[in-house]
Amino acid sequence: MKKISGLITLLLFASTIFSQIKITHGPYLCDMDTDGVTIVWTTDKPALSWVEIAPEGTESFYQKEHPKYFDTAAGRKRANQTLHRIRISGLEDGTKYRYRIFSKEVTERKAGNRAIYGSVASTNVYSKKPLEFTTFAKETANASFLVLNDIHGKSDFMKELCKDIDFKALDFVAMNGDMSTFAESEEQLFDEYIDASVELYASETPIVYTRGNHETRGVFADELIRYFPTRNGEFYQMFSVGSTCFLVLDCGEDKPDSDIEYYGLADYDRYREEEARWLAKCVETEEFKSAKTRIVFLHIPPPVGDWHGNHHLQQTFMPILNRANIDVMFSGHTHRFSYHEPNSEANFPIVVNGNKTYVMCKVGKDKIDIEITGLDKKDSRHFELPVR
Ligand SMILES: [Fe+2]
Repeated sequence: MKKISGLITLLLFASTIFSQIKITHGPYLCDMDTDGVTIVWTTDKPALSWVEIAPEGTESFYQKEHPKYFDTAAGRKRANQTLHRIRISGLEDGTKYRYRIFSKEVTERKAGNRAIYGSVASTNVYSKKPLEFTTFAKETANASFLVLNDIHGKSDFMKELCKDIDFKALDFVAMNGDMSTFAESEEQLFDEYIDASVELYASETPIVYTRGNHETRGVFADELIRYFPTRNGEFYQMFSVGSTCFLVLDCGEDKPDSDIEYYGLADYDRYREEEARWLAKCVETEEFKSAKTRIVFLHIPPPVGDWHGNHHLQQTFMPILNRANIDVMFSGHTHRFSYHEPNSEANFPIVVNGNKTYVMCKVGKDKIDIEITGLDKKDSRHFELPVR
């Protein structure tokens, strides 16, 4: 009898443990700025989620209450989702913060606002150090970042390639397109590159996401922006680290919208035209004009290749970029390294990174240091560009 009651207690204990809400992926950082960041993670059950922030320091995270930030829509906390995206704002620039994430299971929603809560999952483990991030600095001529592109779902290769990188020394990591070949489901995105990025850096060093043409494909492609949230709700954006201004541009597809491969779902000519109108306004802003260094991320290099996408990017984006004093553009797509000196098509240099290397870029006062590294030494190279 004793044995049976012991077994029942054990089973009850196990079922309590296994039914508790869990953090399934993340957290990872997106849309970093001088005064804020967005923190993203998922849970296995719908939850009310929040982030607690504390300044850098040796004082225990638990000694006092810290500000809580929630996932909200027009003032109302979201509590019916498993994907949690929380914007932290009002922070100091160039400042290190500690953070923890929390998700409280919502077991039932009843009529009116009655929410019934269950257990809480968190990174709030006493033995574990809080996670950290540093907001972008306002007053600096330096910026450092890593560029990865055309990984096409090979997360083990990406981990091997990046195993010696000191990610904490970087301002951000740019995913410059085609991290996966199709966007088919949430699990696939995590399996193919987001989980590996979290393992390597993304809980503490932010992701800057540039969409590649392949990532416009698949039944889950319309959901992708929810996993890399931006304040303007678009894949294209502009941000600055000190006196370096970055343009993140979205290339759309590479073939004509009418191509049989798109099954009637492509409308990228119109999209690029709309994006070009946004870009024309961007390059007229004080933030862009007063920058000392201007860097562009665009997955398809417009003058490299002869597809419709190249031609249309040349018609729409290049006339604007050619009068915008760009210092360098980073691209991918071709799966082969190439370097293009300024010429009549692009009056700035274009660095096309291959699919077996990463780019480590350090912007200084007078020069841009570019180091390309592969597992195979023959793929590695190093060069410098002047700040123009
Ligand atoms: Fe591509």
